[in-house]
Amino acid sequence: MKNILVTGGAGYVGSHVIVSLLEQGYGAVSVDNFYNSSPKVYQRLRELTGKDFIDIEADVCDEAKMKEVMAKHDLWAVIHCAGYKAVPESVSKPLEYYQNNLGTTFSLCNAMRQTGVTRFVFSSSATVYGEPQFLPYTEEHPTGNCTNPYGMSKVMNERILTDMAAANPDWGVVLLRYFNPIGAHPSGRIGDAPGGIPNNIMPYILKVANGLLPVLPIAGDDYDTPDGTGLRDYLHISDLAEGHVAALRYLEDFTGSEAVNLGTGQSVSVRELIRGIEKTSGKTLPTEIKSRRPGDIAEARADVSKAKRLFGWETKKTLEEMCADAWRWASQNPQGYEGE
Ligand code: WQD
Repeated sequence: MKNILVTGGAGYVGSHVIVSLLEQGYGAVSVDNFYNSSPKVYQRLRELTGKDFIDIEADVCDEAKMKEVMAKHDLWAVIHCAGYKAVPESVSKPLEYYQNNLGTTFSLCNAMRQTGVTRFVFSSSATVYGEPQFLPYTEEHPTGNCTNPYGMSKVMNERILTDMAAANPDWGVVLLRYFNPIGAHPSGRIGDAPGGIPNNIMPYILKVANGLLPVLPIAGDDYDTPDGTGLRDYLHISDLAEGHVAALRYLEDFTGSEAVNLGTGQSVSVRELIRGIEKTSGKTLPTEIKSRRPGDIAEARADVSKAKRLFGWETKKTLEEMCADAWRWASQNPQGYEGE
């Protein structure tokens, strides 16, 4: 059995990746310090999959601990999802973001070198592309023109890992550039559970639909888009998770490094997303128009031909399924994992 280390395995992306790994016959070892997640997800994962896995509470920046985990569990690859990801917070706390988001990668790479692990899948982001010079974004679009430390930490990690692959001919690295993952496992048992006021649109919409927040602020309706609101390439979190397993299959015969977009290739507006949740929940969501957020772009949309060509991967789930699954999770777990 191929054992995979999933950093941030208690998080939104990491927990869905673990479901896909277990369902497809991999072993999983989750490392998480619960900075932005809850250990309560692990029991739900075991219930959902009917399978067991290893979970370890630790800081991924702890290199000695990462070396111990890799040596003990005979790991085939690392999927690195752990990281700080709040764009506005990164602007006010740049040092914490660089220290954590780069420190975790340094720790993992050193531990891998010392234990002979040579495969790395990195949770990157379309945010590395910055203001689009052309759309859809292909993987050849320039990167690095980011307006915040969160995005820059992704750019820097991509460079570190690309250089590690160039210096170590037996290493295989895949940089997965996520567009906008939304939704939840169809069971409604795991999902996105940000505390407080969410930064991202879908968790905010769901808190309004649940009556936990009074109104949804629409961050600008004066973009040059069909309905004036921002357009994004939203993909179902379960499709995203499958993209990670597809990347592992690719790494069976690949050394070197590749950046790959994970998206649908279509973009959806804020108002379309709101309508999707209104339709599935039967509720009318109060909204208010606010000013644009600094650094926001009018549209992001992925060219997804490379994922199809290299991995044979493409998204399967529709916007309706994304909204229905998101609402099922949020309506059944209005307080996320803390409601139990
Ligand atoms: C989507 C759309 C907003 C909030 C960021 C990161 C990316 C990824 C996902 C981190 C935009 C609008 C939002 C709100 C709104 N990783 N919006 N009101 O900014 O595309 O991407 O999050 O999690 O790396 O860059 O996603 O969900 O914040 O915004 O109108 O309260 O919703 O203007 O058009 P974004 P988002």
